[in-house]
Amino acid sequence: MAASQEKSTFRMAADAIDLATVPWRTLWTGSTMPALGLGRFGTDRFTGEQVAAAVLEAASVGYRHFDCAPVYGNEHLIGHSFRAILEGGISREDLWVTSKVWNDKHGEGDVIASCEQSLRDLQLDYLDLYLVHWPFPNDHPPGCDIHSRSMDAKPHVHDNFMTTWRQMEALVDRGLVRHIGTSNTTIPKLRLVLRDARIKPACNQMELHPHFQPPALFQFTHEQGIVPIGYCPIGSPNRPDRDRTATDTVDVEDPVIVHIAKRLDVAPGVVCIKWAVQRGQVPIPFCVKRAQFVSSLRAVVADPLTNQEMSDIAAIDRNCRLIKGQVFVWRDGQSWEDLWDPTGDITPP
Ligand SMILES: NC(=O)c1ccc[n+]([C@@H]2O[C@H](COP(=O)([O-])OP(=O)(O)OC[C@H]3O[C@@H](n4cnc5c(N)ncnc54)[C@H](OP(=O)(O)O)[C@@H]3O)[C@@H](O)[C@H]2O)c1
Repeated sequence: MAASQEKSTFRMAADAIDLATVPWRTLWTGSTMPALGLGRFGTDRFTGEQVAAAVLEAASVGYRHFDCAPVYGNEHLIGHSFRAILEGGISREDLWVTSKVWNDKHGEGDVIASCEQSLRDLQLDYLDLYLVHWPFPNDHPPGCDIHSRSMDAKPHVHDNFMTTWRQMEALVDRGLVRHIGTSNTTIPKLRLVLRDARIKPACNQMELHPHFQPPALFQFTHEQGIVPIGYCPIGSPNRPDRDRTATDTVDVEDPVIVHIAKRLDVAPGVVCIKWAVQRGQVPIPFCVKRAQFVSSLRAVVADPLTNQEMSDIAAIDRNCRLIKGQVFVWRDGQSWEDLWDPTGDITPP
């Protein structure tokens, strides 16, 4: 029965993982977040009802961290799961819920309205983390092909971004969100936010998996006391064809990952999760299958990878960005690389 149609009930599973053993990350505010979350973007492979039902089931085995966004189209369904979890006895303080403001809601007044809508949909009084989903104020239709480009696409302009950020700060002031952060940003963009922010980002959500480790950005976030949250942590192996290019590599087929997976008797994807937590990022794999999310959580509480395995995985970085952001290109003749400030300076408008 769909999560939206029937009042769900929640109870911890008999085989739940001991929460005291799950690693946590401490943010600059002193708050802690679970070091493993669950991404909730089902693409077109899973319905919103399936994604919402998996929230309930994942919470019953010990997950407490959920990564949401209005653009995933399922917050109104996931809200039923959160209500059931809270009515089932889990304290709100023990949950970590992230949402994000989408690219067409950066304007004055829009950020606050967008956050309020997410809170209504998720049936929560506050969010633990609210992110600016992309630094580009451009909408594009969900499910559009990577080769489509919006003719209205606009560049990142720091002063405009700060208009968005001031509203993010106001959300903290009003108690609607506990932390704010960035996503899909770069070192030069982050530097300016850090210079001008009244409330600095607590987290930066970024693509992170063994074949895409961006060491400089990863290091920078750590140095600045910003927790890196890693999306596509398994290399999004089953993403739709429209999100693939011919040069993309496949993390879960890498011999190093496969070899470690055999030693541990787990799926290669689980090795990617284990590596991510051990490296110090917060992976948010997408998953609706109980056996998979249980094995991911079990792996992060089990014995660590060896130092040799950690350095073997460090050596397989292919700088293979999967989410290139082609739809955000704002000028003729640009390539998607320009979105990521390859010169070390923000690509000029
Ligand atoms: N901020 C952003 O712009 C942004 C961009 C992209 C994604 N995200 C977030 O990141 C999340 C994850 O990204 P993603 O779904 O693209 O990539 P992913 O987490 O790397 O890959 C997800 C796939 O990995 C497989 N998997 C998951 N757990 C597994 C396990 N224990 N063992 C084996 N296979 C496993 C599943 O495949 P099967 O289902 O086929 O078994 C699942 O569909 C999204 O849901 C979203 O919340 C954020």
